[in-house]
Amino acid sequence: MFSRFGPARRPPSRLRRRLAAGARLVAALTLVGGLYTAFAPAAVAEDSSGLSPAAQQGKGYFDQTCASCHGSNAQGVPGKGPSLIGVGSAAVEFQVGSGRMPLAGQAAQAEKKKALYNLDQARDIGAYIEAVGGGPQIPEGDDLHSKGDAARGGELFRVNCAACHQFAAAGGALSSGKFAPAIAATDREIYGAMLSGPQNMPVFGDNQLTPQDKADIIAYIQNLRSDQDPGGWGIGRLGPVPEALVIFLVGLVALIFATLWIAGKS
Ligand code: HEC
Ligand code: HEC
Repeated sequence: MFSRFGPARRPPSRLRRRLAAGARLVAALTLVGGLYTAFAPAAVAEDSSGLSPAAQQGKGYFDQTCASCHGSNAQGVPGKGPSLIGVGSAAVEFQVGSGRMPLAGQAAQAEKKKALYNLDQARDIGAYIEAVGGGPQIPEGDDLHSKGDAARGGELFRVNCAACHQFAAAGGALSSGKFAPAIAATDREIYGAMLSGPQNMPVFGDNQLTPQDKADIIAYIQNLRSDQDPGGWGIGRLGPVPEALVIFLVGLVALIFATLWIAGKS
């Protein structure tokens, strides 16, 4: 059993080779699995136990009131309600906080009404929808207009919003019985409307209007609303054209009466 060159190294037995290969495989799989869990986005919780307390609360409301139209996993129900995957807490807070959702009847458009859920509950439902599908969120805080510049916001509003909402935010009609309402909303509702684009309104993501642009627009809208028309009757706040028209008509009628009165005297 000795070769000419001394004792031969015994080749590893088949069993040992197999064991070593198996061990390498296990080690590689463990490494891959570990890397995956380290870098993969946090998995969406399948059951409610993985949800934050707020989201769990929200899931309760959702299952009770919204699931019939939006599906038990917010995936939508054909003919009843759209999927809410990816709409984010912004859309939910806007829709539920303003009373548009839960939808009541089959009108041309969901309208603002007395909210079924208060704002905290609306945000809980938002947290749940956020956990299920992600999406845009309204920034923290109730006072979002204080950082805004109303003058710059006015310019942005006339470019982006006035086509539908009229430039004094008084609202206007759209086709097929739909309309852009006069804006009477909180800072967060305005922000949520821009982020989610309800119904016929386009979505104004942060690429179209930066958070600063949005703050400016909100400052403009809230400034308009607080403005009490110090000159008297606002005449739709349309500016010099209707003002001149009013003066023309009222003035003309006054002149005619004055003439008639003078003519009657003599
Ligand atoms: C009767 C059916 C119905 C119920 C109940 C209902 N929805 Fe809706 N929902 C709709 C329909 C239809 C739309 C799409 C039309 C619209 O936007 O007005 C919609 C739209 C929405 C949107 C806007 C989606 C987007 O793309 O921006 C959100 C958010 C929403 N619903 C949340 C809710 C929540 C939360 C509840 C429960 C509190 C609820 N809905 C209850 C029918 C319903
Ligand atoms: C293409 C038309 C259109 C444009 C452009 C548009 N909107 Fe709207 N907006 C609508 C419609 C339609 C609604 C009603 C949606 C609803 O009730 O669900 C609405 C609703 C709103 C509301 C809710 C009003 C309330 O009092 O509850 C706000 C706030 C709003 N829009 C702000 C804006 C701002 C700010 C811009 C510009 C950045 C803008 N909109 C641009 C059509 C438009």
